[in-house]
Amino acid sequence: MGCFTENNPQNQQALWWKQGVIYQVYPRSFKDDNGDGIGDLSGIIAKLNYLTWLGVDAIWISPIYPSPMVDFGYDVSDFTGIDPIFGDLATFDTLVAQSHQIGLKVIMDYVPNHTSDRHPWFLESRSSRQNPKRDWYVWVDPKADGSPPNNWLGSWGGSAWEWDATTRQYYLHSYHKAMPDLNWRNPAVKEAMFDVVRFWFDRGVDGLRIDSAQRIMKDPHLRDNPPNPTPDVTAYKRLGDYDSQLHLYDKGHADIHTVYRELRQLLDTYSLQSPRVALGEMHIFDWQEWARYYGTQHDELHMPLNFGLVGISWKASVVRRLVEAVEAALLPEAWPNYVLSNHDEPRVTTRIGSRQARIGMMLLLTLRGTPTLYYGDEIGMHNIEIPPQYVQDPWEKNMPGMGLGRDPERSPMQWDSSPNAGFCPPTAEPWLPIAGDYKQVNVATQCDDRHSMLALTHSLLKIRRATPALARGSYTSIEGVPQDCFVYVRQFGRQRRLIALNFSGSEQHIQLPEMGNGFVLISTHLDREEPIDLASLHLRGDEGCIIELPDSI
Ligand code: NOJ
Ligand code: CA
Repeated sequence: MGCFTENNPQNQQALWWKQGVIYQVYPRSFKDDNGDGIGDLSGIIAKLNYLTWLGVDAIWISPIYPSPMVDFGYDVSDFTGIDPIFGDLATFDTLVAQSHQIGLKVIMDYVPNHTSDRHPWFLESRSSRQNPKRDWYVWVDPKADGSPPNNWLGSWGGSAWEWDATTRQYYLHSYHKAMPDLNWRNPAVKEAMFDVVRFWFDRGVDGLRIDSAQRIMKDPHLRDNPPNPTPDVTAYKRLGDYDSQLHLYDKGHADIHTVYRELRQLLDTYSLQSPRVALGEMHIFDWQEWARYYGTQHDELHMPLNFGLVGISWKASVVRRLVEAVEAALLPEAWPNYVLSNHDEPRVTTRIGSRQARIGMMLLLTLRGTPTLYYGDEIGMHNIEIPPQYVQDPWEKNMPGMGLGRDPERSPMQWDSSPNAGFCPPTAEPWLPIAGDYKQVNVATQCDDRHSMLALTHSLLKIRRATPALARGSYTSIEGVPQDCFVYVRQFGRQRRLIALNFSGSEQHIQLPEMGNGFVLISTHLDREEPIDLASLHLRGDEGCIIELPDSI
């Protein structure tokens, strides 16, 4: 039995980002207010009451900056503006003010690794070798034979280097060639990007989700990546040629920790007014390495995002091993977090099925750590099929047919059963197709169904909010349960809750006589609240329960 505790839990102040739940809004797909078929800021404002009813604490909004939209906002052409597709700064200010009025925090997507190739900085930089901003990006001479300076590959296929015929050098792009990488080794770049942080914090935002957070520091000698002797053919995502290398030199150079310590200091000055948070997008599955981004003195990111649950094989023993590995890797001050889906990954309902998605939701909302909930998962939205003529995602366009496209998980939010699912007016054409099941799977219909996925998510969020053991407590896994079950206890002070999850479709019998009696507070089936003798706990297929235990002595 592994036990992990906060130091003196009673004494710890409950910071919003520790005990709260983050909801990710993909703005193009959430709610279109002006009827052009693309979600916008006024659409988000119109749905703030829904989000507070649902019971989340913060929204992370994927990028809304001016952008040519090659990568739908991750190609930024102005870090301190709002793209007219989404609204303007005044609307953004209203969004922040109204969110704060109802107790919702706002987290911005911060994109430090690259800009759009239309960003004025890059236009200047590429204009000549003598331009003062030349060194703001990574420009390198070709090899003697004219080929790129090293073997680095872009994540979306091909070389990571693009030749500029005018100035006769290559520039680096970790992703699309229209997204050149900034040179964070240039102090002027760092200062300009820290100014961007100041700009948004001065406007009242509560946190940053740092995009591609591991990418900003590469090997200063630009060494070739070595070949990958054992590409993981069982990996849930196969990235083609990119998997043929070990990515030792094109990201995550040790100097990155200095940058994040400095960024943290900047955040800490703002946190004196109100606590701010820095989340980092990290695709790292070596948990020791991942945990380094918290900082050895807990002085870097508040939470490097944890994608462990996303690619995992959905088995009780595997999920338990993951949770324990994550817990074991954390220094006492470091606060865990879990992501179940996002705009880059197939939706959880598609990965594990609708029944197990209910287990997934209970798991996400009861593990120790901050959950990130992707819009639409609360109603069990699926990935959609995207006919070739509708493909939007640059990754799919670059590497067609490999199953890497992300449009399927970005389909418009399903609000009701009216045409276009209440996402945009019936006469508008949504930017991506609406899922075929929207008449059944939508917020309005599920609001009226007390057994729906939405009812489950809503109830779980309500229970979590009212229960310090779930929001802030320690985590202890329980041994001696059937192999298809994952059972753990959360405890804060004397308050204890047992979570028992059945990862299979068949009935399971759990015997925990030493635990005595308890009370089932909620089942994923939403049909029982009852006293229970833990000597004999029956879980039906795909059932999970939160059980109140008597206070510890
Ligand atoms: C990670 C983001 O989540 C993804 O959507 C984007 O395409 C890349 N970073 C590049 O910014
Ligand atoms: Ca719109």
